[in-house]
Amino acid sequence: MKKIIELNDIKRYFQVGEETVHALRGVSFSIEEGEFVTIMGTSGSGKSTLLNTLGCVDTPTSGEYLLDGISVRSMSKNERAVLRNRKIGFVFQSYNLLAKTTAIENVELPLMYNASVNSIERKKRAIEALEAVGLGDRLMHKSNQMSGGQMQRVAIARALVNNPAVILADEATGNLDTRTSFDILVLFQQLHKEGRTIIFVTHNPEIAQYSSRNIVLRDGQVKEDKINSSIHSAAATLAALPMPQEL
Ligand SMILES: Nc1ncnc2c1ncn2[C@@H]1O[C@H](COP(=O)(O)OP(=O)(O)OP(=O)(O)O)[C@@H](O)[C@H]1O
Ligand SMILES: [Mg+2]
Repeated sequence: MKKIIELNDIKRYFQVGEETVHALRGVSFSIEEGEFVTIMGTSGSGKSTLLNTLGCVDTPTSGEYLLDGISVRSMSKNERAVLRNRKIGFVFQSYNLLAKTTAIENVELPLMYNASVNSIERKKRAIEALEAVGLGDRLMHKSNQMSGGQMQRVAIARALVNNPAVILADEATGNLDTRTSFDILVLFQQLHKEGRTIIFVTHNPEIAQYSSRNIVLRDGQVKEDKINSSIHSAAATLAALPMPQEL
């Protein structure tokens, strides 16, 4: 199997006045193509700092990070931005869509930075990505004309449109009600089945049952790292949920 992520003794310290905050204290692990990894840990354990490192948004104080075999440390800021654009799809808790902008335009955005993709191809790919997340009938809807679950689907389509090596999600179901959370989880499981590599940060221990591996952080270190040999089906859980009117 191909290693998509390799972290070797990653440390990230923040200097705040006199005090040094040790957000990551030596994190090492690798992730292979096609894994669906949940990352858990209490507030302040370093999850977002780790995700920012993986997403090439933040540079570690020390340690080595290889993304799809490429060493990120030696790169310039510009090179990192290009790498991020090509290799990583981000999904956030608050969707981070452009307001008053159509679903298609939001999804086209990451392709704007790719000169090899012309406007016709761009639109075609955006439509395909939106169809893949079940929003083929909402192409021209603006962000403020969609539900939370639909906005998160647009965000997932945007994350997919560049065909990234890895999808990084930070609390992607954090703003959604139970039923819609499972809807989104069904979609992530579908992407996992299709061979996508997913890293999903969450506070919710239940979500780990639907992923193939769970990493738990504590005080900036890996406390637990377990393969899940009995992955639950989000679709089955969704089907068993009481209908909204029965709640
Ligand atoms: N830019 C920064 N400057 C200083 N300290 C920071 C910075 N970013 C994070 N920290 C500190 O690093 C530690 C880890 O923060 P991080 O945001 O990674 O935690 P987290 O696990 O994502 O928490 P949460 O579950 O609340 O989102 C915390 O103690 C935090 O205060
Ligand atoms: Mg966080």
